[in-house]
Amino acid sequence: MARKKIALIGSGNIGGTLAHLAGLKELGDVVLFDIAEGLPQGKALDIASSAPVDRFNANFSGANDYSAIEGADVCIVTAGIARKPGMSRDDLLGTNIKVMQSVGEGIKKYAPNAFVICITNPLDAMVWVLREKCGLPHNMVVGMAGVLDSARFRLFLAEEFNVSVEDVTAFVLGGHGDTMVPLIRYSTVAGIPVPDLIKMGWSTQAKIDAIVDRTRNGGAEVVALLKTGSAFYAPASSAITMAEAYLKDKKRVLPCAAYVDGQYGLDGMYVGVPSVIGEGGIERIVEIDMNAEEKAMFDNSVNAVKGLVEACVGIDPSLK
Ligand code: APR
Repeated sequence: MARKKIALIGSGNIGGTLAHLAGLKELGDVVLFDIAEGLPQGKALDIASSAPVDRFNANFSGANDYSAIEGADVCIVTAGIARKPGMSRDDLLGTNIKVMQSVGEGIKKYAPNAFVICITNPLDAMVWVLREKCGLPHNMVVGMAGVLDSARFRLFLAEEFNVSVEDVTAFVLGGHGDTMVPLIRYSTVAGIPVPDLIKMGWSTQAKIDAIVDRTRNGGAEVVALLKTGSAFYAPASSAITMAEAYLKDKKRVLPCAAYVDGQYGLDGMYVGVPSVIGEGGIERIVEIDMNAEEKAMFDNSVNAVKGLVEACVGIDPSLK
């Protein structure tokens, strides 16, 4: 059987890390694409040179022409500009809309059957723009945010409870921004809900509230430390998990920026919801019950995403 083909559109910090992880996990052959000449070719050669050492089988190539992504099974999009200190994800809007236009056209022409994972920020708006521009079915275009946000939440909870990150599950809904909704009720340590752990004296509500805040600002915390860019290791791991779920038909339940049309009472938009990823792309969206407080936070987050989408249409009227 021929190996799967993974196209990475954008070969910067996240793109390079994605390529390395895809190789280490032997998910398939990897094509790195970028507008910067030499960058994807250099990273491809460097990572390919690690294969004999780490003993994995995958071909790596770099390209500046979209024809190289022809027939890709998975496309992961990180093309665009990343945040610098003091910038919000929304500040990236104008530039990254134009980038999504060219990426969308490239995917439409050369990889119309791919499962497309968008990482470029502001995520919930960019995945919508990318879907509009590439025209692929909604279930085949998804945004990576929730896996990363819930991973940060899981890390901070594991540190607080002094338990393994492996045993912490956590839930984050809504847009990938300051309004995201970390759901304490659905977050557990080995199945024990966090509110029960508070009752058991393992932590306090105030400490958990601080963790929720830290999770919401997890991306900004990294940006402030790095000073020259934004997070890339955990975003890459998160997207590779989603790609692997698709390629291996794992039916994993992961929080993703998925297209909701009717679910959660929403009318055709991308937002972070728990989704089943398998060979059919986004196969199902899980509609969880929310209490009044959670619903209010979710609605606030949905409104923030709607505002961003409206701003996109204002910048590029061809979008509506
Ligand atoms: N087509 C293809 N590649 C492009 C284009 C374009 N039109 N415009 C920019 N790029 C490339 C840049 O040349 C760069 O190599 O996208 C790459 C982005 O890489 P980085 O600047 O290192 O950014 P990275 O940290 O990888 O983040 C990428 O993901 O998390 C988001 O906010 C982040 O939007 C940002 C994206």
